[in-house]
Amino acid sequence: MSRTSITHIVARRVWDSRGRPTVEVDVRLQGGATGRAIAPAGASRGTHEAIDLRDGGPALGGLDVRKAVGHVNGEIATRLVGMDATDQRAIDAALIALDGTPNKSRLGGNAMIAVSMAVLHAAAQAGHDSLCTYVARGRPVRLPLPEIQIFGGGAHAGRRVDIQDFMVMPLGAANFAQALEMTAEVYRAAGELMKAEDRLQGVADEGGYWPAFDSNEEALGMLVRSIERAGFTPGDDVAISLDVAASEFGRDGLYRLGLEGRELDRDGMVEMLLGWCQRYPIASVEDPLAEDDPEGMRAFTAAAGHRIQVIGDDFLVTNADRVRAAAATRSCNAVLIKPNQAGTVTETYAAFEAGMAADFGTIVSARSGETEDVTIAHLATGWNAGQLKVGSFSRSERMAKWNECLRLEEALGSQAVFAGRDVLPPDAGKPLP
Ligand code: PGA
Ligand code: ZN
Repeated sequence: MSRTSITHIVARRVWDSRGRPTVEVDVRLQGGATGRAIAPAGASRGTHEAIDLRDGGPALGGLDVRKAVGHVNGEIATRLVGMDATDQRAIDAALIALDGTPNKSRLGGNAMIAVSMAVLHAAAQAGHDSLCTYVARGRPVRLPLPEIQIFGGGAHAGRRVDIQDFMVMPLGAANFAQALEMTAEVYRAAGELMKAEDRLQGVADEGGYWPAFDSNEEALGMLVRSIERAGFTPGDDVAISLDVAASEFGRDGLYRLGLEGRELDRDGMVEMLLGWCQRYPIASVEDPLAEDDPEGMRAFTAAAGHRIQVIGDDFLVTNADRVRAAAATRSCNAVLIKPNQAGTVTETYAAFEAGMAADFGTIVSARSGETEDVTIAHLATGWNAGQLKVGSFSRSERMAKWNECLRLEEALGSQAVFAGRDVLPPDAGKPLP
């Protein structure tokens, strides 16, 4: 037994930002160091991501996690106690072998990611490092350019609009603190405009305004006006970023826009998005086509990828093999990194590394169901990912991550480096010709 040997692993049921049960794990090491992590939960999940184990049955909508908690306190603790917390690779390999399924459905991706991240935290504490410094392993770190939601839609707002996230990226910011300040001004301006036009109806799951619009494009217009009202130049100081989350309304090459009552085929969908990219200062588009439509992803990337960041989320599900395949076929040029899509820290990092090797943009991301857990703020900064997506600029499960990045920036002091517009393709934010 060494100081960094695991002595205790304890899981409990806690509650996420939607009031649903989720898994929290505490890990204790021989030398007294501790680590804690909480599993987040998605609502617009990719088909190929790690499965959260839910109990089913009538209680809590079938969403309880007592089985997942039981697996941690039972067979996972039995297997991992005595192992060295600093050997993350061995810990995660043991979890994967113990689970024995391709999608983590036996032990539960929620159980596994909470254990994996809690071990990472404990190992960092044992070395008296912040998590950010620990995962950097001596390499340069960088505060991420944030992508921040202003209007929420899709599965996070009763499908009130089809597009899931209307976000901004403060390209003109000189540091992370300024990036948040700029975003705060845009978020406030958007709220004022919505109120003045009698469209303010509260906030969606990730804290963006609930979108009372008559068309998807109307939201883009409102976003541009919000940026201007806040005193910024759209596309220069502040650009637009969209998460289309097209798998939610597209299948077999057909896309059903519920708000507008029309159906588009693959070419029609690409054409509509390219039109938006010509008329609005859009720097980044996530999942423009559905997860089962690589042909559509390739077509959009071929037309827009030189100017626009094209992110695979449901399309890549934080999977290294999928990232490599997408790079080989040029189906996108950036990867969203969600630890619970992969299910362990090691697999998350492998997907991130595959993205780096392909010269992809890399965006560490939260889920729509979140908690006070701030692990991803440290991963984005410590891995030098360049970008972080957490949802909006309200609700403390979102603000906890942004605020943690402020603390990291302060702790780095004069060493702090901020990832500005350079992480995007050249001229991103300038409308497509
Ligand atoms: P989810 O959505 O967390 O509800 O899956 C977030 C996203 O699509 O990026
Ligand atoms: Zn997404």
